[in-house]
Amino acid sequence: MNILLLGKTGQVGFELDRTLSPLGTVNAPGRETLDLMNEKAVANYLVSAKPDLIVNAAAWTAVDVAEDHQTSAERLNAGLPAQFASYAGANSARLVHFSSDYVYPGDGDQAWLETSETGPLSVYGRTKLQGDQAIEQSGADYLIFRTSWVYSARGNNFMKTMLRLAKSKTELNIVADQVGAPTPARLIAQATTLAIHGTLARGLYHLAPRGETSWHGFAQEIFRLAQKNSEQLAMGPESAYPIPTSDYPTPATRPLNSRMDVSKLEQALNIRLPDWQSQLDQTLSEYLEQQ
Ligand SMILES: NC(=O)c1ccc[n+]([C@@H]2O[C@H](COP(=O)([O-])OP(=O)(O)OC[C@H]3O[C@@H](n4cnc5c(N)ncnc54)[C@H](OP(=O)(O)O)[C@@H]3O)[C@@H](O)[C@H]2O)c1
Repeated sequence: MNILLLGKTGQVGFELDRTLSPLGTVNAPGRETLDLMNEKAVANYLVSAKPDLIVNAAAWTAVDVAEDHQTSAERLNAGLPAQFASYAGANSARLVHFSSDYVYPGDGDQAWLETSETGPLSVYGRTKLQGDQAIEQSGADYLIFRTSWVYSARGNNFMKTMLRLAKSKTELNIVADQVGAPTPARLIAQATTLAIHGTLARGLYHLAPRGETSWHGFAQEIFRLAQKNSEQLAMGPESAYPIPTSDYPTPATRPLNSRMDVSKLEQALNIRLPDWQSQLDQTLSEYLEQQ
């Protein structure tokens, strides 16, 4: 199988570059080879690469910056997946794509289902939703994995920011009224690869660990596990104080409720997804070993 992977330098793409290789020949052009903002260059690349499977882990993920860069966010999050879906539909190829909890309106306290009404609160969320809808309407063979709060041992993410801050600060105020599931990039890559290998039926699936927490709860667990791993921190979990989102204003509005029901994917793959705490334990250990 001829696999085209986009976004190999990102959190999810980096992990996919490793996990996809047993499935076929992985061709993963970086930004220097293929600028995904350039529609014509992408079209030409597809014609010459002739992929059987496109795995798109590239996106405009700078949520706050997107508020002032709508055109660029639209190109990467909506136009690009639409372009891939159009190629896949016309060439009997398959498209695997990643979406976000930010497509949901964030109200209430029930976990969203794949069939739940969407209602993005930000440019990022709106453009991600446009990408999903373009794929769904294309007629192509596709898988969309909607995930949340991605982090990994590499890249810029909340886990690494918290560890860095806890080395110099003696206390931190952290948002406690946004609830979701922190998802390691490695889990996304593993489940995606399993799904491709097992020929999961076309459609949209939620993909996140089991359980839920707030950013405050996530940070406390990061500090607890770091201390358990003998990391020298200037503060512990007890010095992380909960604050409401209203005390931490950002350009883009965040959903308060990012809970996603993952039972559709679990049933389709006949697996039970791990809980977020054990995933954090693994990812944090991996990061600390690299230091
Ligand atoms: N991060 C989250 O919390 C989160 C939450 C829910 C869903 N998701 C979704 O999960 C997927 C993967 O996210 P991630 O966190 O792994 O993203 P990421 O770490 O920000 O990586 C984005 C990737 O896209 C590439 N890219 C961006 N613009 C490009 C361009 N013009 N030309 C070529 N490459 C370009 C980046 O390349 P460079 O390294 O060269 O910039 C990078 O490889 C995305 O679809 C995202 O929307 C993410």
